[in-house]
Amino acid sequence: MPITTRKQSKETGTLGRNIGIDLGTANILVYVEGDGIITNEPSVIAFDYASGEVIATGVMASNMVGKGHHGIKIVSPLNKGVISDIEATKKLIEISLHKIENTNIDITESTLLLCCPSEVTQLERDSFIDLGNKLGVKDVFIEQEVKAGAIGSGLDIFSSTGSMIIDIGGGSTDIGVLSLGDIVVAESNRIAGNYFDNEIMNHLQYVHGLLIGKKTAERIKMEIGSLREKIAEPKQTYASGRDVVTGLPKKITVTETEIRDVLVKPFESIATMVLKVLQNTPPELSYDIIVNGIYISGGGALIDGVDEFLHKRIGMDFHISKRPLTAVVDGTKLLLKNRGSYFVKPTD
Ligand SMILES: Nc1ncnc2c1ncn2[C@@H]1O[C@H](COP(=O)(O)OP(=O)(O)OP(=O)(O)O)[C@@H](O)[C@H]1O
Ligand SMILES: [Mg+2]
Repeated sequence: MPITTRKQSKETGTLGRNIGIDLGTANILVYVEGDGIITNEPSVIAFDYASGEVIATGVMASNMVGKGHHGIKIVSPLNKGVISDIEATKKLIEISLHKIENTNIDITESTLLLCCPSEVTQLERDSFIDLGNKLGVKDVFIEQEVKAGAIGSGLDIFSSTGSMIIDIGGGSTDIGVLSLGDIVVAESNRIAGNYFDNEIMNHLQYVHGLLIGKKTAERIKMEIGSLREKIAEPKQTYASGRDVVTGLPKKITVTETEIRDVLVKPFESIATMVLKVLQNTPPELSYDIIVNGIYISGGGALIDGVDEFLHKRIGMDFHISKRPLTAVVDGTKLLLKNRGSYFVKPTD
């Protein structure tokens, strides 16, 4: 597929642009050529139950999670790396595209790349292309997030040197070995950010008799989540919720060490998955991976000590992406230049 050339609208003088979307379980990010990342917010949408109208998206909708009433329906349209509500997902994409305020952009002459979790079905891919077309974008294509994430992490996936990436997102952990511009071996499971949050909720319920919400669990993970074997001065934070026995509000202190113990088990599963991918990797590429190490992207890469933990289990070098939360949308920049084709190496 050739590199696209841009047409300029005769009437308005506007130009088509490259637009990249990272449609994640936890966050949706939009990149517009020339403007950079224009949207980076939670993939949450709130509807009015009676009218079906959208009342909030992004941070505003996310702040409503666990606090709503019968009149509001709060939806995270992607769950565990798959689309659980296709209509709400489409709405989220539609609203994100409407945020492109730059009046110099002609959407009909633009190219849209949508990066989806690996388990999105062909039917869902087709319906996104359809939606893009309905919104006026003629040129729409879909890529797997692990491919964009590898590029956004600085890996040259177009060379014959093999590279390996682990993307620990909100809904899924995706692992890919890439060479010559495409995925050679891939594996995915649902042990990722939301799963860690659930494990924290279960721990607090069974050990401390405290029921907490998802947002509180996520905050605890972000504040004191760690995989370090030796923690010299363990950090601590608070957790507030409802006492399991009395039903009354309760606040307790939670330590970094106990959260570490909660996180170790799911990360052992991720290490097992990494080993499986390594065992299925063609030998020539295995050597490249030994030399270059394995990159980690996605929000889960921000858990303190994840590289050290995996290094101890697997014995190879692990590197955290420079910008783990934006690696996928950063990668769309290059993929948009050659439409993801492995025949054309992007020049930038
Ligand atoms: N500092 C942090 N420490 C630990 N976890 C974090 C941190 N920042 C974000 N996260 C977690 O990372 C996850 C979101 O990561 P990311 O944006 O990469 O996911 P996503 O792309 O939306 O999901 P997916 O790729 O699975 O569809 C959330 O679970 C969030 O709690
Ligand atoms: Mg992601």
